Amino acid sequence: MFRLWSSEGADLSFDVYGDWVLVSDYRVGSDAAPSLPAAYEQHKIIYLYRPRATEHGAAAKVARILLGAAREDDPSYLECQEIEAHIPYVLRMDAPLNPGIFLDSSRLRALVEQMSEGKRVLNLFAYTGGFSLAACRAGAAHIDTVDLSPRYVRWAEENMRHCAAVVAGCVGRANSGEGAGRVIDASGVSTDSVDAISAAGAALDRERYGFFAMDSLEYVRSFGRKRAPYDLIIVDPPTFARARNKRGKNKKGASQGFSVERDAQSLLESLIPLLSPKGQVLFVCNKRGFTLPAGLKKSFARIEQLEDTIPEGYTHQIHQAWLLTSRRQS
Ligand SMILES: C[S@@+](CC[C@H](N)C(=O)[O-])C[C@H]1O[C@@H](n2cnc3c(N)ncnc32)[C@H](O)[C@@H]1O
Repeated sequence: MFRLWSSEGADLSFDVYGDWVLVSDYRVGSDAAPSLPAAYEQHKIIYLYRPRATEHGAAAKVARILLGAAREDDPSYLECQEIEAHIPYVLRMDAPLNPGIFLDSSRLRALVEQMSEGKRVLNLFAYTGGFSLAACRAGAAHIDTVDLSPRYVRWAEENMRHCAAVVAGCVGRANSGEGAGRVIDASGVSTDSVDAISAAGAALDRERYGFFAMDSLEYVRSFGRKRAPYDLIIVDPPTFARARNKRGKNKKGASQGFSVERDAQSLLESLIPLLSPKGQVLFVCNKRGFTLPAGLKKSFARIEQLEDTIPEGYTHQIHQAWLLTSRRQS
């Protein structure tokens, strides 16, 4: 799984997920599917675009067309499994915008893996749990995963079942991608079948792996205090999110919700009581031109902006990331 190419302004990109190629074309004026050169007819291509996008504003809804060999009745369109760094991810190519993993975060996942052995980890705004899986692969002692969307939390749990089983030494096979046709175990070497993963994964240790479908800010105020301390807290919020009602639906016209520009400082400061001595926060931000509030320098012992976190294939700074270290010594 990797980004093949994206334009300078990131309004056109090509991402490869095993057999599938996802083209995201949000250029102004690209309001119809391109005709495909014959050489590409055999590839499974999903083409996303915004109909009627103009200089005066892109249409909000994204449309999708399946091109080449892509078919809706292909079982791997609805669900397949791909490998990144020996971790299997469940992908759903029919999911809107993204099939289940943000490819720009691969180096950050590798960093989380390096940092997590034996640690207590909290993953906020977790989506399908990519950072939680990286922590699991490292042998983290405890991992809590939080996202507002119940669907994503279920998906993260499914991913974790597979990952925990692989890490526990129970082996499994990827059906395509980097691990295509090979069988992997915790060290990336081979032995058994994908069914073994699912069977062993059914017994996910609920004490060790917590999943919460709720507002991350609410989690920090409630469960977080009871389940702390954490040695590593990962915070990768959206730039902006509308407030939601209890069933997770958008609450139109609500004045609250989340804005990284407005809420980053208070959110990051609210994590301090949850951190262990010398505990760290990995903060990732997708908002272009974002600067970390200077006031945070008073609250943390050390703040380091991370370099080289963007993988190849990206032509712009798709995210920025910082490590913030707690002041608490003991
Ligand atoms: C940028 S994605 C996070 C990507 C993720 N960290 C990963 O590694 O794949 C943002 C996620 O935040 C979730 N979200 C939005 N508002 C939230 C909130 N108030 N509390 C918890 N999750 C929220 C969305 O459902 C979405 O999954």
